[in-house]
Amino acid sequence: MIITYADIESFKNISGISFEPDPKYNIIIGRNAQGKTNLLEALWMLSGCKSFRGSKEKECIPLGGKKMSCRIRLNDGSRDQKLSYDIIREGNSNKKRITVNGVPQKSTRALFEVFKCISFTPDDVNIIKGTPEKRRSFIDLAASQLNPILTVHVTKLYKIIENRNSVLRNINSGIIRDNEALVTYDSMLSRIGSLVSFMRYDYIARLNEVCEKLYKTISGGKEKLELEYRSNIFDKQDFENGCGPEAYEKYSAKLIESRESDIITSSTRFGVNRDEITVRIDGISAKEYASQGQIKSAALVIKLAQAEIYKSRCKESPVVFLDDVMGELDENRQRFVLDMVKNMQVFITTPNAGALLPEIKGKVMTISGGRIEE
Ligand SMILES: Nc1ncnc2c1ncn2[C@@H]1O[C@H](COP(=O)(O)OP(=O)(O)OP(=O)(O)O)[C@@H](O)[C@H]1O
Ligand SMILES: [Mg+2]
Repeated sequence: MIITYADIESFKNISGISFEPDPKYNIIIGRNAQGKTNLLEALWMLSGCKSFRGSKEKECIPLGGKKMSCRIRLNDGSRDQKLSYDIIREGNSNKKRITVNGVPQKSTRALFEVFKCISFTPDDVNIIKGTPEKRRSFIDLAASQLNPILTVHVTKLYKIIENRNSVLRNINSGIIRDNEALVTYDSMLSRIGSLVSFMRYDYIARLNEVCEKLYKTISGGKEKLELEYRSNIFDKQDFENGCGPEAYEKYSAKLIESRESDIITSSTRFGVNRDEITVRIDGISAKEYASQGQIKSAALVIKLAQAEIYKSRCKESPVVFLDDVMGELDENRQRFVLDMVKNMQVFITTPNAGALLPEIKGKVMTISGGRIEE
């Protein structure tokens, strides 16, 4: 998959940047706060995913401006596709305008189905150091790239949990007097929760295999990286048995068993919303014990494994965004990354072009004040 043309008319501090990216390396240079990450973020938005640095929609509109407007042309391996994404400020609300090949779309999901990309940024250490929620959402996104229906399941799932929690609250405060409403939510939650849980399990099993192999290489054969999915409902045997009526039954039994205490805490304490993914290096929890360098390498390996899995499953490479990471890596690690992303289109930002390996040659753009410097 390659972006053949990009036009960032307006996005944060960027205005009027249009260019034909190199099919291989695109190097975006600039001093701090000039718009390098913004440029990657603008391209990333066209994948329909939430910003990789957590920007809200309204924050993408230039300060004092009225709209964000980005479009790209890409070749997905079999055909050319045109994507556009505008967010227009109208009074206090924002209106989205999304098109795929000129056809208006209801939601960003249409973009997600077309454009697959992977970002690696210094913040990715939070996949290891951050909250369980960060790990869950990373896995959901990565697994959804292989199977976009998962995004629909996950969105529905959290809506059901939100509604269930509000019923629990109302029962707790006596506004609702019987458990009838919970029965409906528990049944919906058991099914969809089981589906999501099994999909996460499958993805993490594959991710673990690839990560182990890559981390071995990056650590010179010395260390072992392991990822493990932990559910507070299912065990390994359940996952081996596959997702079906037995799994729904087990999920549902757990919800019923914890109903009384769920009412007291007004929260759903069992299920996929409490899943954890443990990351271990040489058998020890990386979150608590790994060094900064180990955590950085592990985060890098997890992201590269995501790209590798997508490539092997979908027979097509994702576009790779490396924000401020290449210049930070030593020569060996840069070579390792280059080897992993060979045959992929890559966008690299750095304030210091001299820190990149000389073999990284391609289109070079210098950004200053949100514009390309001539
Ligand atoms: N909505 C917005 N409108 C206008 N400017 C914005 C908006 N949001 C952020 N900015 C500004 O964009 C500028 C560039 O941000 P960006 O993160 O792209 O910098 P950068 O070139 O990646 O810098 P660094 O090397 O420090 O990472 C920042 O100064 C920021 O204040
Ligand atoms: Mg930046």
